Amino acid sequence: MAKSQTIFVCNSCGYESPKWLGKCPGCNEWNTFYEEKLTKSSTSAKYEKKKQVEPQVLNELEEKEINRVSTGFGELDRVLGGGLVNGSLVLLGGEPGIGKSTLILQICDKIEGEGKVLYISGEESAEQIKLRANRLAINNNNILFLGETAIDAIEEAIIKVNPKLVIIDSIQTMYSDEITSAPGSVSQVREITAKIMRICKQNLITTIIIGHVTKDGNLAGPRVLEHMVDTVLYLEGERYFSYRILRGVKNRFGSTNEIGMFEMQDKGMTEIINPSEILISEREDNPAGSIIIATMEGTRPLLLEVQSLTTPSVFGLPRRTANGMDYNRLTLLMAVLEKKAGLMLGNQDAYINVVGGIKINEPAIDLGIVLAVASSFKNVPIPKDVVAIGEVGLTGEVRSINLIEKRIKEAEKLGFKTCIIPESNKKLLKENYKLDIIGVKNINEAMTKIGIK
Ligand code: TYD
Ligand code: MG
Repeated sequence: MAKSQTIFVCNSCGYESPKWLGKCPGCNEWNTFYEEKLTKSSTSAKYEKKKQVEPQVLNELEEKEINRVSTGFGELDRVLGGGLVNGSLVLLGGEPGIGKSTLILQICDKIEGEGKVLYISGEESAEQIKLRANRLAINNNNILFLGETAIDAIEEAIIKVNPKLVIIDSIQTMYSDEITSAPGSVSQVREITAKIMRICKQNLITTIIIGHVTKDGNLAGPRVLEHMVDTVLYLEGERYFSYRILRGVKNRFGSTNEIGMFEMQDKGMTEIINPSEILISEREDNPAGSIIIATMEGTRPLLLEVQSLTTPSVFGLPRRTANGMDYNRLTLLMAVLEKKAGLMLGNQDAYINVVGGIKINEPAIDLGIVLAVASSFKNVPIPKDVVAIGEVGLTGEVRSINLIEKRIKEAEKLGFKTCIIPESNKKLLKENYKLDIIGVKNINEAMTKIGIK
């Protein structure tokens, strides 16, 4: 009898080691290794031998058309690159309670084309799914439900039903007898996905796998699956805001920088087709410290309100809080304001909030942040119809940014009157716009032009 072998696997990133380790060299997490027995019949070893392999000339390969079906949500179709590709494997990740099951159940109802949908849940009972379906007003004879967690039974059901779409909710609850570790561990998750992938690819069944990620990443992350599946989507959002952002992280059939916006309502998720309009609709009339910025999310411009509040610090060390933007970027921009524009911010607490629970990483929002802080500090409101776009450098210069025309057009569409942009961008503008375009070289010029200085 062969000696049983064991390996140690990191539960966070899947790193394997012959010895137990305290700290994972792969992801630097502590205490994530657990022991696992190696079984002979792991999926990779079980691949049957094909009859005859014959390499083909790349140039002579036949081009197969990719067939896509609409999910019924324009926002989701765009993130997928134009719809769900037949036979593809999609991973939808997100924190528990963010709305993954809700969105997927709605897709099951709306998806185009003939055939059954098989919804396999290891998390919720049939009654719970039925309640949700009632809430979403879904009444569809094509949706089949299976409450099951054993992969062998699931395989059997998929082959028997031969659906056009399979949902696995969630991958962390499924298990295979061949693996000794608990459901949700890296090797279980990997094994199950490999099995599902095989039956679905062989039978050209589209599959959506739901996976949970926790904030601290404790659960075996769907991250280990990212390289196995065709498309990875993340559903994000702040729990106390109703907006949800669907982000493409990997996509073999489309671009990855698209986002889709949804709102969680009492009857499920609805798509937001004009996000800018909604995000800036609750704005107060001319308060000091508020300005509109234009950011790009994928190929789509998004107008957002940035709010700032500065107050004298009570304690010696001033507090800075950045919500929706990078904290270090905020301290840097405030240092530039202090040194280059002469604002004494050293004894001020400063709070920045990007309204709507949205996080922005691009530098094009710098100018807006600088103007919002200056406006709050001086207590001078910025006119309501101004949009500011531009990156700010360490010497206070306003630097050019990409895709300026798209951002200006979005501002124009929503009825803004003035757009403050980098001078270097303005020089290169070809079209004429209805709104006033002010080019600025540095932050002092920008502050003067809108009357804060
Ligand atoms: P759910 O889809 O179960 O989240 P996940 O599968 O990502 O864990 O959604 C859970 C939350 O959504 C729950 O707090 C209730 C809320 N919800 C609504 O606000 N409206 C709805 O129509 C539904 C079905 C759920
Ligand atoms: Mg769920």
